[in-house]
Amino acid sequence: MRGDDLREFNELSALEGLRILITGAGGMLGQAFARHLAQQVPTALVAALDRHAFDVRQREQAQALRAWRPDIVIHCAVCSDVNWCEDHADAAAQVQIEGTRHVVELARECRARFFYPQTFLIYDGSQTVDEATPPRPLSVYGRLKLEAEQIVLEASPQALTVRMGGFFGEHARDKNFVGKLIPHLAGLLRSGVDRMEIGDRIWQPTLTDDLAYNSLLLLARGEAGRFCMASHGQASFFELAREIVLRLGLDRRIEIARVPAESMARKEKAVRPDAVVMRNAALQARGLDRQRTWQDSLAAYLDHPYFTGMFAP
Ligand SMILES: NC(=O)c1ccc[n+]([C@@H]2O[C@H](COP(=O)([O-])OP(=O)(O)OC[C@H]3O[C@@H](n4cnc5c(N)ncnc54)[C@H](OP(=O)(O)O)[C@@H]3O)[C@@H](O)[C@H]2O)c1
Repeated sequence: MRGDDLREFNELSALEGLRILITGAGGMLGQAFARHLAQQVPTALVAALDRHAFDVRQREQAQALRAWRPDIVIHCAVCSDVNWCEDHADAAAQVQIEGTRHVVELARECRARFFYPQTFLIYDGSQTVDEATPPRPLSVYGRLKLEAEQIVLEASPQALTVRMGGFFGEHARDKNFVGKLIPHLAGLLRSGVDRMEIGDRIWQPTLTDDLAYNSLLLLARGEAGRFCMASHGQASFFELAREIVLRLGLDRRIEIARVPAESMARKEKAVRPDAVVMRNAALQARGLDRQRTWQDSLAAYLDHPYFTGMFAP
């Protein structure tokens, strides 16, 4: 939990006693939601269902959950392998589109409020983004996610969709840059390598913990519609890697070298924008921006035995 727990607990008190269903609860964001609810809203009844407990592609499984009568549905289930989606658009649509339809239908029948996490990959990266920026996805993943968001918003004026910066968090479950980089660094050091090249694409590394908390705050305040939510500041993968190496005290053992973004893009199937930077404009206008700088969130995240143990001599 974070430093000012008591205030945060009070901020979420409107969620006390509610029945909250989380889909895709085995994933990065789903885990962060489940943990925050367990710690900070102890009287909420939470059904955190992973893919084995609830496969969103199966309409009858969604229908069976009507009996549980959720007050809020947090729909984190997604096929998140962006490169895989590029070659398997139909299979990805089964999860992203059909799955979302099934969960939306369940929520509507239960009169539950709907929360939809959205990706920054719905944007092309040509400008700084806020809620008024028209999306223009460059990948199959981005297109399917945008279509799913439209389904959600058309189904309910109470639905809340939050367009989020790129994630880090959840230790071994982190399948993104930070989650892959740190064990890779440990492997390089074990084999005596002292230099690593990193491309310099720009993003906003955002801690899952911060996203889950801030999203629950929006739900507690009864907010609806579209929001952008990302850490403060921006970082290239190179800057982020250098900060990680510094924070873990590895800067004398390995050099991080900057290479152009295109050298990363050549290895990827799906096209990604070179830079996406969001402004949390709607959050700030309402006084509800609880995001931190990415450096502060990273420092808090790395201060954990999971990481220190990885580099123990
Ligand atoms: N990752 C990011 O950087 C990022 C950034 C912005 C927004 N978001 C959004 O945040 C949301 C959650 O993403 P995430 O990174 O937490 O993804 P994640 O870690 O991959 O979690 C998604 C979960 O959904 C599960 N799932 C897959 N197919 C399913 C199905 N048919 N039925 C039920 N569950 C299924 C996955 O299970 P298996 O692992 O067993 O397949 C996984 O546990 C998504 O909407 C994503 O677009 C992500």
